Amino acid sequence: MSDTLSRREFLGAASGLAAGAVLGPELGVGRGAPAVHIQAASKNVAVASGNGLRAVQRAGELMAQGVDTLDAAIEGVKIQELDPNDASVGYGGFPNEEGVVQLDASCMHGPSRRAGAVGALEGIKTPSVVAKYVLLYTDHIMLVGEGAKRFALSYGFKEENLLTDRAREAWLHWRANRGSRDDWLDVPRDERLTIREQGTINCNVVNSRGELSSVTTTSGLSWKIPGRVGDSPIIGAGQYTDNDVGAAGSTGRGEANIKVCGAFLTVEFMRRGMKPTDAALETLRRVIATSEPRLLDEQGRPTFGLTFYAVNKKGEFGAAAFTPRRYAAFDGETAAHHDAAYLFEREP
Ligand code: GLY
Repeated sequence: MSDTLSRREFLGAASGLAAGAVLGPELGVGRGAPAVHIQAASKNVAVASGNGLRAVQRAGELMAQGVDTLDAAIEGVKIQELDPNDASVGYGGFPNEEGVVQLDASCMHGPSRRAGAVGALEGIKTPSVVAKYVLLYTDHIMLVGEGAKRFALSYGFKEENLLTDRAREAWLHWRANRGSRDDWLDVPRDERLTIREQGTINCNVVNSRGELSSVTTTSGLSWKIPGRVGDSPIIGAGQYTDNDVGAAGSTGRGEANIKVCGAFLTVEFMRRGMKPTDAALETLRRVIATSEPRLLDEQGRPTFGLTFYAVNKKGEFGAAAFTPRRYAAFDGETAAHHDAAYLFEREP
């Protein structure tokens, strides 16, 4: 179950007291000590971005069969990576400004405390799996660009053209209409195709033994400057797992998230006793506090999107965004969309 209802209970109990003082003992948090001995989830739970309904369903099914949490999460997001109709992830993702699809992904495995990531990976449909191979088979955390591709090819990943006709058409529209003084003649605008996409899929899971993992994968900001890497492959920004506490991740404007290490921060807020939804909201407030004025409207509302998703070791989960939106979760029984908590009623 989402933590949103029990959150009220918590806020009532916590009023007038520091959150850590209320929940510290429950979390086994001593003064200056890391959180340990949290009561583990008794069910398999997965929480993901709104495009991850199939991912959480798959991850939940696999965890029920005893599959490892990281493998389950990656099998979930792979559905989206391989889907040519998802323009924000893997195959079919929108390309950079030169028409080249560059993919980012990272993952963390709670029980083994290992992490892996790839950035600006070209020609491989499933960067989440390559990130897992970095985690499994190297003493490194992140490989990028040509090195990441050669690494993937050495394990038998197939190099393919990731630019689908739909993505190419969208890119051509963008290139034609990007400016009035360039050498490209304008073509009729198609609002849907010329939009600047920032899709991504993040999935965080916990199994009935309290083992946690997280993964985030994306084609990044569409029409980006070649080589631009967002938050998704950054451990602690795009996703983060602490097997003693919980896991969290994000979708949205990576540049805003990187500056606050948002996934790590969300897990740290949970370590101090916050429920996942409150932790995600608190991270968003930090993002606003660190945002440049050019990215805020007159009322201080961000002009960009960013959403955090989180699950704790007990299996409580939640998400928060600047404005209303939905996220996906498997609560141990069913996969469904839920309303995320939010800070502002409307977009600026
Ligand atoms: N959050 C995805 C990106 O900024 O690339």
